[in-house]
Amino acid sequence: MTDQTQRRVIGSEHIEQARQRGRIVFEVLPGDIVTTLAKETAQRVGVKLLDGPLEKPTYPRTDGKTAMQRGLYRRSARWIAPDHTVRRKVNRFGKLAIVGAGGVGANIAHLAANNDIANEIALIDIAPGVAEAIALDLNHASGITRSKSVVSGGTDLAMVSGAAVVIVTAGRARTPGMTRADLIGVNKRVIHSVGEVIKTQAPNAIVIVVTNPLDEMTVEMLRVTEFPRQRVLGMAGTLDSSRFRHSLVKAAGVNPADVEAMALGSHGDEMVPVTSLARIKGRALTEVLSANEIEACVKDAITGGGQVVALKKTGSATIAPAHSSVELLDYIRGAKTGSVPVSVMLDGEFGLENVVLGVPAHVGMSGFIQVEPLRFTDTEHSQLHSAADAIRDRLGLNRESVS
Ligand code: 2OP
Repeated sequence: MTDQTQRRVIGSEHIEQARQRGRIVFEVLPGDIVTTLAKETAQRVGVKLLDGPLEKPTYPRTDGKTAMQRGLYRRSARWIAPDHTVRRKVNRFGKLAIVGAGGVGANIAHLAANNDIANEIALIDIAPGVAEAIALDLNHASGITRSKSVVSGGTDLAMVSGAAVVIVTAGRARTPGMTRADLIGVNKRVIHSVGEVIKTQAPNAIVIVVTNPLDEMTVEMLRVTEFPRQRVLGMAGTLDSSRFRHSLVKAAGVNPADVEAMALGSHGDEMVPVTSLARIKGRALTEVLSANEIEACVKDAITGGGQVVALKKTGSATIAPAHSSVELLDYIRGAKTGSVPVSVMLDGEFGLENVVLGVPAHVGMSGFIQVEPLRFTDTEHSQLHSAADAIRDRLGLNRESVS
């Protein structure tokens, strides 16, 4: 006999509540009164009324220790996201030197310190107090960032001494109406005086040139330091590729993580955004965008730097170039792997030699390792050759050699 004091009246609201909790069966115990409305509601919302008591499922019993281990394992990050990444060694630079504490140099120092990628960061600028102030400012931030990178600032180029990597950003920037090539004369002198000091004070360093015109200044740096081509790199491909990807993201209305694309060639009008190998959500550009849209993205990438100059009026971009420089550092130290677009002196790769050009390359702690032999279309291949000819022409070289 059911205890009459425990009899329940099951109303429509009980069925509604059970459904809201995700139930699709409702246990009706002997003696329960189920209202007509409750029955109608059960039918309407798809809840089955079952005569109880229902048999409860039995769970396998286990001892406390095993239960605890299972609980901890399920809560561990490893269980939530199995780690399939290949373990690799990520290096930390002993000393990173940055020559030029303008917008690009200061932002590189900021990102490098924030990412804690070097024990020591030396920031050097010709203007008294500028590099010192930024260094002090960055060190003041370490109480928050907890970065162990110690930043120093000064005017003396000898501060590059002992650096594993020297990034050269010093030189004049473009103003509206100027092309990067207009800076050859003035910035060549800067590269020569900086290169002379790097040659003696940091003879084992990898030098990354950011000063414009990028490819031509990388040639000048090679000449003055007489370093092997493995240790003199130009940073532009990471920047141009980022701009190209941004254009594609906007055109396709997708997320930045959905786009893979790179830009090679010169850091100028002869840039080669590689459309044949670009992918949006893994699909070829031609499957997602019209020919006109692709062409507009290519143009947007090539003119990206100039667009910033036109808006700014007093100088060129700083933030994206700094991120792009740090990305190159990340490939060098092994934090990122694979090939990265970088300007290097070519020695037969892609049928080119004796010219510095942006190409996909593998890099490491000793600098440039080898070019990634990607297959370009005939058009892209000849665009790379045209870029090489333009760079040689601007340096007043014949098309055979760079002496
Ligand atoms: C740029 O493209 C400064 O060349 C650099 O923004």
